[in-house]
Amino acid sequence: MEYLQELFADRIGGSSFGKQAELYKFEKIKKTRRQMEREHPEIPMIDLGVGEPDAMADAGVIDVLYEQAKEWKNRGYADNGILLFQQAAAAYLEKVFGVGGLCPETQILHSMGSKSALAMIPQAFINPGDITLMAVPGYPILGTKTKWLGGRVYPLPLLQENHFLPDLNSIPQAVLQKAKLLYLNYPNNPTGAAATKEFYKAVIEFAKRNQIIVIQDAAYGALAFGERPLSFLSVEGAMEVGIEVHSLSKSYNMTGWRLGFIAGNEKIVKAVAAVKDNNDSGQFIAIQHAGAYALGHPEITEATCEKYRRRHELLSAALRRIGFLATPPKASFYEYMEIPKGTRDGRVFHTADEFSDYLLRNALISTVPWDDVGHYIRISVTFVADGEQEEARIVEEIERRLSRCELVF
Ligand SMILES: Cc1ncc(COP(=O)(O)O)c(C=O)c1O
Repeated sequence: MEYLQELFADRIGGSSFGKQAELYKFEKIKKTRRQMEREHPEIPMIDLGVGEPDAMADAGVIDVLYEQAKEWKNRGYADNGILLFQQAAAAYLEKVFGVGGLCPETQILHSMGSKSALAMIPQAFINPGDITLMAVPGYPILGTKTKWLGGRVYPLPLLQENHFLPDLNSIPQAVLQKAKLLYLNYPNNPTGAAATKEFYKAVIEFAKRNQIIVIQDAAYGALAFGERPLSFLSVEGAMEVGIEVHSLSKSYNMTGWRLGFIAGNEKIVKAVAAVKDNNDSGQFIAIQHAGAYALGHPEITEATCEKYRRRHELLSAALRRIGFLATPPKASFYEYMEIPKGTRDGRVFHTADEFSDYLLRNALISTVPWDDVGHYIRISVTFVADGEQEEARIVEEIERRLSRCELVF
């Protein structure tokens, strides 16, 4: 029916919805990828772009799901979650991050993945005209939802010279007056940067001074190498101004299971719970049981961390030999690198988008370009490889393919 086209909401493009010819970044990558796979079926694509683990969930976690799925009592709506999961989350925060004293019932709320929590949070706080402060580049969900509610997003550029931490002193007073939310994400996607205790202290002081709520997205929180993972909530005063959003997706290889939780300030948790009640009916109780088991076994994450640490060492050494300024990050499965100037045969790369496209077409290596602040590509050590030998073989193959490109830095 013709009139349908006139009925779409402005937030998804209004009457232009579905007509835009422009392809979004990830769709464009997928399209070129499919084309290259068709044209070169003999060369396996190496996927360094994907933001999810290559491995399955732990066998113990799957066993708990299987057992709990058979229970009659677990068949129904979970609403705002089961106490067992909330208790497991509180114990996990204490054991892994040293965040003690959280009340499971009032300070923890489960969510169907952290994405859905981030999508709901603005509904609890944003009125038309309110501002969300957001680091750029970054995971966009909270900002998109802020705009859908008539709010505005004020970007905070993440610069290499500031160790990819936002400069909170650069925000104009007029913006601060309307700002309600500050969204942070450490360990960071896409830069791989980790926050410091000093930075979080400054954030808390900033939030109190300007009456702002802090939403710290810890989707990669437990994936830290060498040092104990740092939680925003472990810093004095954090609980007064904010919450942290956690996820089992990356730390427990459970992306498809859709399980996460928010933790922290009781009033904020209560407000998000009120919104959540009107959005979904909770995650399947058997999955919450399996999640509780996972949170009780942080050694599962530790083994995954060891794998990523090893892969980061291998891959960044190979990339440095090619000429990239690659360093293994302190946390997360990402490495973020400035693009080369061009190739020895005279090609010039103006944008990361161009370079990433070049790698797909010429080396069958998939990466994610970021042109928001400077020109960088993000690579992830989640490439599919079964065991150390296979990992080493793939990294050698990446190096071989990249050296053939004769990049100029
Ligand atoms: C920074 C960040 N936050 C949140 C998410 C969402 O993760 P999930 O919904 O699987 O918990 C992602 C996923 O890529 C992410 O990169």
